[in-house]
Amino acid sequence: MPYRRFVVPRTIAYGPGALEHLSSVPAQRAMIVTDPGVRDLGLAEKVEKTLQAGNIATTIFDNVEPDPSKETAWAAFALAQDFKPDIIVGLGGGSPIDTGKSAWVLYENPDLAEKSFLEFLMEARRRELRKKARYVAISTTSGTGSEVTSAAVITDRSVDPPNKAGFGSLQLVPDIAIADPELAASMPPAVTANTGYDALVHAVECYVLTPPSDMIDPLAIWSARTILEWLPKAVDNGADMTARDKMHLAALQAGIAFSNGRLGMVHGTAHLIGATHHIPHGRANAFMLCQSFAFLYQGYRARLVALATHLGIDGKDDRTKVMNLLALFDDLKKKVGISLAIKDSGLEESQWQAHLGSIAASYAATFSRIPGLNELSPEDRRARGIPASAEEVEAIFMHAWNGTREELA
Ligand SMILES: NC(=O)c1ccc[n+]([C@@H]2O[C@H](COP(=O)([O-])OP(=O)(O)OC[C@H]3O[C@@H](n4cnc5c(N)ncnc54)[C@H](O)[C@@H]3O)[C@@H](O)[C@H]2O)c1
Ligand SMILES: [Fe+2]
Repeated sequence: MPYRRFVVPRTIAYGPGALEHLSSVPAQRAMIVTDPGVRDLGLAEKVEKTLQAGNIATTIFDNVEPDPSKETAWAAFALAQDFKPDIIVGLGGGSPIDTGKSAWVLYENPDLAEKSFLEFLMEARRRELRKKARYVAISTTSGTGSEVTSAAVITDRSVDPPNKAGFGSLQLVPDIAIADPELAASMPPAVTANTGYDALVHAVECYVLTPPSDMIDPLAIWSARTILEWLPKAVDNGADMTARDKMHLAALQAGIAFSNGRLGMVHGTAHLIGATHHIPHGRANAFMLCQSFAFLYQGYRARLVALATHLGIDGKDDRTKVMNLLALFDDLKKKVGISLAIKDSGLEESQWQAHLGSIAASYAATFSRIPGLNELSPEDRRARGIPASAEEVEAIFMHAWNGTREELA
């Protein structure tokens, strides 16, 4: 195994009151990137006041939508070009933090604004940042971990299905992450459930797909355990500040884990159903988790069994342990009000069917650049977690629609 790198923000301020850290950040001009919901809660003004207390001039871009589009990121970049910030502050859930990251990349490298979406994604990874500004990420959901990750996700809606694409670079890891649970306490139960489930998927998907690591595994396991215990409490009683604090830090830890490890089929398929059917990101992950893990069982059995063991799950053999693990994930969905089947979530079957073929083909096509793919036997593909065809992907999506999953072989 070659050596690996582990990259985190230089400072992580966490715990109740951590927002205060912002007033000591050395800067002159701050651009806050947020969304209308977060602004309506008064959080943008609170952040603005904290910055102004440190004599920092501010401007606010508050036009971010869920699953933020390329156009939104470009609009935030235009404001940055006018205002010339020396810090960009992403404030909110993953949507504003990722929009801020994308605007930051453009602000540092304005020539990228002229490129196509795909060229931007390819080029952004290679570009230097921090020539003009540093990045501060303040999370108000306990979910994506974007405040500590090397990734940003934006969507090109000019294509069908919409291209919800992540891009990553170690440069994108924020300089400062602020995880103050008081900012997350206003999340209503459904947002708490969706975003918290996203954090669980980061922890467990990363654990299963990343080669074993003594740096990453403890974070993934610890955060998964914390979320299983505390997410139902945070959903039941949003005023339970212990539950909020536990969830806020667990989401951050899961973010560090996957940012230094990897994600795969759960997020890949969830992005497609999320962007096509406007299903919130964490909920889409919840819908795809057990179906993807059942598919991955043949190739990743040892890691799935180890995960079950770490989460205190027993069983007479490997297959039973993993079945019990998936049952535990389903049980958490029931506890937090996420349906087990997409068909019970309010989506029209005709809508689902209308896009099924194209999203399945789109997911299958993501593997096309793997060298030697056509020479792999169906068994070899399975062992590597690569579907054999668009039809096989369709079957996984249909399991998610019906709340079923394939038999563990
Ligand atoms: N960059 C990464 O590493 C990474 C990782 C996973 C997901 N993502 C992306 O992040 C996005 C999802 O982010 P998200 O799940 O945090 O949701 P979000 O940012 O889209 O926010 C969801 C809703 O919650 C509201 N909200 C936010 N904070 C609130 C609070 N404290 N109280 C009440 N309401 C609040 C927002 O106004 C919004 O309406 C997706 O685009 C996803 O693909 C990014
Ligand atoms: Fe996610």
